[in-house]
Amino acid sequence: MRQTGAEKTPPYVIVVAAIAAIAGILFGFDTGVISGAILFLQTEFQLSAAMNGVVVSAVLIGALLGAGFSGLFVDIFGRRRLLIVVACIFIVGTVGSALAQSLAMLITTRIIVGVAIGISSFTVPLYISEISPPKYRGMLVTFNQLAITIGILSSYGIDYIFTPSESWRLMFTMGVIPAVILLIGMIFLPESPRWMVLRGWVDKARETLAKVRCNSNIDQEIAEIHASIHQEQRADWRLIFQRWLRPAVWIGLGLAFFQQATGINTIIYYAPTIFKLAGFSSNTVAILATAGVGTANVLFTIVALPLIDRWGRRPLLLTGLTAMIISLTIMGFSFHSTAHSDLLGWLTLGSMVLYIAGFAISLGPIMWLIIAEVFPLEIRGFGTSAMVAASWLFNALVALSFLTLIDTLGAGNTFWLFGLISLLGWVFVRYYIPETKGVSLEHIEDNLRAGKSARQLADS
Ligand code: BGC
Repeated sequence: MRQTGAEKTPPYVIVVAAIAAIAGILFGFDTGVISGAILFLQTEFQLSAAMNGVVVSAVLIGALLGAGFSGLFVDIFGRRRLLIVVACIFIVGTVGSALAQSLAMLITTRIIVGVAIGISSFTVPLYISEISPPKYRGMLVTFNQLAITIGILSSYGIDYIFTPSESWRLMFTMGVIPAVILLIGMIFLPESPRWMVLRGWVDKARETLAKVRCNSNIDQEIAEIHASIHQEQRADWRLIFQRWLRPAVWIGLGLAFFQQATGINTIIYYAPTIFKLAGFSSNTVAILATAGVGTANVLFTIVALPLIDRWGRRPLLLTGLTAMIISLTIMGFSFHSTAHSDLLGWLTLGSMVLYIAGFAISLGPIMWLIIAEVFPLEIRGFGTSAMVAASWLFNALVALSFLTLIDTLGAGNTFWLFGLISLLGWVFVRYYIPETKGVSLEHIEDNLRAGKSARQLADS
């Protein structure tokens, strides 16, 4: 059942995946930009400590709402149409936050941006996975994660450029550019052929498949998609509680939990604070070290691109998690050391880069990918949206509790705690995660319906 032939990736499907992935740039940019802007927002709006937290986490709250409430829309209105609406929401939210005259307007517009991030965060992987040939699905869906990392890195760059002039409005405004490109691009992209078959638009689905496939049997693919549709079970969120769907739910929730609870965003959001804690005395070095972490994130995601379909999801997850466990253990030790010096700072930087490399080849891209692969067509939108909403919830919980954890447990123990969670993540992957490399979405669905366990969902 695994696709192993010599089928080439048609250039058109690469273009489609790359355009849809622009939403990932917005995801990364809009979550990252606040770290620089907040310094000036504090003075402009005279933020109390509590309000500071609200402004920073407004995007996370919006993302949780966006991902949580739009699952049925993606099944009812289609992936493409929803992404067009998302691009418009991005534009409205971004322009609004750049023009905000009051704290209430700032928070509301940042929540609106968050809603767009939340919806696109699950819709894009879903759309790309449905349009891709199984043999390249991993790489093409990972374009989205690559775009997220590029977005985060460019937000650091934009913050750096506009910091001397204290122009937080311009920092936000830059987000309009990718949003407009996404809007124009999505107008020209085709709808997901799988969703079109679900709606009964078989001829249009065939036309799209002909454009996004080389040498493959399109009629057979249509027949397989057809066979996976069970008319008596149209988009209904209650389906998710059915027993046969449990393996997909456990896989999704587990990956969403481990992607966030292993601490990635404590590094992404708080890197300069961590470097200062670790002993770097100068602000500039701490900021440059942060840019180094952002660059490593992009580079190692590029390393992962060709490996995801060649080595497979499981070997990458297990290798990446091992690197994360090792680096978190070292980070714990370096924070336990009483000596504070630049040397310690460099040791922390080295272990952070190892950690980021581990994340970028494993949980970073593969969480989104596998969540978009394991749900059956009729409930794919709702299923992925629920799992991704859970991931936004875990994201917010970790971000909100991190500084308290550092205060109560100390930095060393906090990183050891993340190390322990990574170890549990390794065990979870070892026993629960199926190898979906090269397997068609319909075959995974057949296995689910046949009652196979999580680990066996992609077996032939
Ligand atoms: C995660 C984000 C994280 C980013 C870092 C994404 O996959 O969901 O929470 O900030 O990766 O690259």
